[in-house]
Amino acid sequence: MKTTFSIIKADVGGWPGHASVHPDLKKIANKSLLEARRSNILKDFHITACGDDLELIMTHTNGVDAKEVHSLAWDTFCEATEKARELGLYGAGQDLLCDAFSGNVKGMGPGVAEMEFTERKSEPIVAFMMDKTEPGAFNLPIFKIFADPFNTAGLIIDPSIHDGFVFEVWDILEHKNVMLNSPEEMYDLLALIGAKSRFVIKRVFPKKTSKLPANEPVSVISTEKLYQIAGEYVGKDDPAGIVRAQSGLPALGELLEGFSLGHLVSGWMRGSHNGPLMPVSVEQAKCTRFDGPPRVIALGFQVHEGELTEPVDLFNDPAFDSVRVNAQHITDYMRRHGPFEPHRLPMADMEYTTLPKVMKKLGTRFKKVE
Ligand code: 13P
Ligand code: 13P
Ligand code: MG
Ligand code: MG
Repeated sequence: MKTTFSIIKADVGGWPGHASVHPDLKKIANKSLLEARRSNILKDFHITACGDDLELIMTHTNGVDAKEVHSLAWDTFCEATEKARELGLYGAGQDLLCDAFSGNVKGMGPGVAEMEFTERKSEPIVAFMMDKTEPGAFNLPIFKIFADPFNTAGLIIDPSIHDGFVFEVWDILEHKNVMLNSPEEMYDLLALIGAKSRFVIKRVFPKKTSKLPANEPVSVISTEKLYQIAGEYVGKDDPAGIVRAQSGLPALGELLEGFSLGHLVSGWMRGSHNGPLMPVSVEQAKCTRFDGPPRVIALGFQVHEGELTEPVDLFNDPAFDSVRVNAQHITDYMRRHGPFEPHRLPMADMEYTTLPKVMKKLGTRFKKVE
């Protein structure tokens, strides 16, 4: 029997503004998923929040895109939205774009990362969740974890991962994907994923030479782009990702090392600014300064016969203090640029813009330059 690990997440109302998730919404989610576990739709679950995003972490045996799991998540978000409306929370129902559920939450607003795999004897797995950024924010850490020997020592010294991995990259503008082998095609891979607003790593697979099944992902990232779904700005596409670790895969510490840069990602205030991604504890996953800076949390589980251990809050550790301090220095530096690029995103990537109105107002005052 294979296990499916799913993260389905949505912003159904912020408390206050876009800062965090109200505890009443988490209570509703907890009750709903508890019932689903009782009726055997789920094997197990854990509810958490990163910034204003409510995160449903679930294990089950229904496979990916399972209607019963997606409708469970959808109904849970709808119920939480009602509560958010009742409490007058900010942007209640922000990420629920359609009124009628059609069997799968993909394209309806919530973010989805899920994968089905054959459990190993011991299955360490990490759920990474981000707020105030976009799916491309995962490109750099996932590349580092599975392809960069300066991050992952095992790529050099562990025979079981020395052959590298296969990356599935999506072009989210053209809705196409391509499989690329690392290290053989590493430069092609980087040529794409460096353009992180367009090309995103969707999944990582073992090579055929691995002892792990080559058709079962070892990592998956949510790639929903809300503004493309709705054709206009309706909220950010704050992503989640799942990464399995150890024996035939990068070690747990090699996963976490991928987040040690505080790398620049886009999102932050009004989804329109570049800023550092700060790894924080669940407790500290509240977006404050300039609605940020963008944050990532990591919950580590052991999965056994579909059941989850209690999570370990992996960035809740002084070993990440220096990354956080550095992210704060970068925050100070970026903020001083105010409305100037590259702190503010280039026109094409902005989620809000007044430029057409400004241009219209200035109208005939623009004179031809001879
Ligand atoms: P173990 O030998 O305890 O599995 O540890 C190996 C490892 O991956 C440490 O990074
Ligand atoms: P969220 O996408 O997290 O709701 O944030 C939106 C925003 O505009 C923050 O300034
Ligand atoms: Mg919000
Ligand atoms: Mg959010």
